[in-house]
Amino acid sequence: MSRTAPILTIDGPGGAGKGTISRMIAERLGWHLLDSGALYRLTALAALRKGVAIDDAEALSKQAQTLDVVFAVDDGTARILLEGDDVTAAIRREAVGNAASQVAALPPVRDALLQRQRDFCRSPGLVADGRDMGTVVFPEAPLKIYLTASAEERAKRRQLQLRQGGEDARLSTLLEEIQARDARDMQRAVAPLKPAEDAIELDTTQLDIPEVVERIETLLAERNLA
Ligand code: DC
Repeated sequence: MSRTAPILTIDGPGGAGKGTISRMIAERLGWHLLDSGALYRLTALAALRKGVAIDDAEALSKQAQTLDVVFAVDDGTARILLEGDDVTAAIRREAVGNAASQVAALPPVRDALLQRQRDFCRSPGLVADGRDMGTVVFPEAPLKIYLTASAEERAKRRQLQLRQGGEDARLSTLLEEIQARDARDMQRAVAPLKPAEDAIELDTTQLDIPEVVERIETLLAERNLA
């Protein structure tokens, strides 16, 4: 598999800061961004809306193959449209995240989304954010980061993020959900969440976002990637 554009993969559990950090780096470098979690969330949301059972692998894989999705930028703000409907906020809801984690454990769904994810790799470069970017989707990526943070810290960050979107949730409930989702993402048979052998691990529990961005940009520069 040879690709012309450089790829930076950023994997890790939910709430470690991957989304924000990937977006910032992509913007600063002018590279494309793949939010692979959004594709699993979109598949889950489409299924929930159409009444497809969340364990019906065949129907869900069809759903994933035929997802009518547009990643748009409107007035500088990223927007995600599903069948023309703006679902940017809807896919971030807890219920959709939990359904996405179940859908993501089904091998036919992962297969259906594989090529769609690889198609995001275009010049001048790609920042790919997810769980298996460095292990499965872009194993040849020249720089792979694995971002972590303690479950408690991630629950706090998630609560803040939900509040900003007008949703409230108890910290203890969020912590339980995060632990359950970690377990499901790490223990699934296909493409489990784990660092690639050549990934660089960064624990962000004690780091703020600019510090993490700076570390990753230093690593990119050291490898002559940016
Ligand atoms: O990163 P996120 O919370 O938006 O991801 C939603 C779910 O999708 C998460 O539970 C794990 C799954 N996922 C995955 O299995 N593989 C990816 N590359 C990205 C996300």
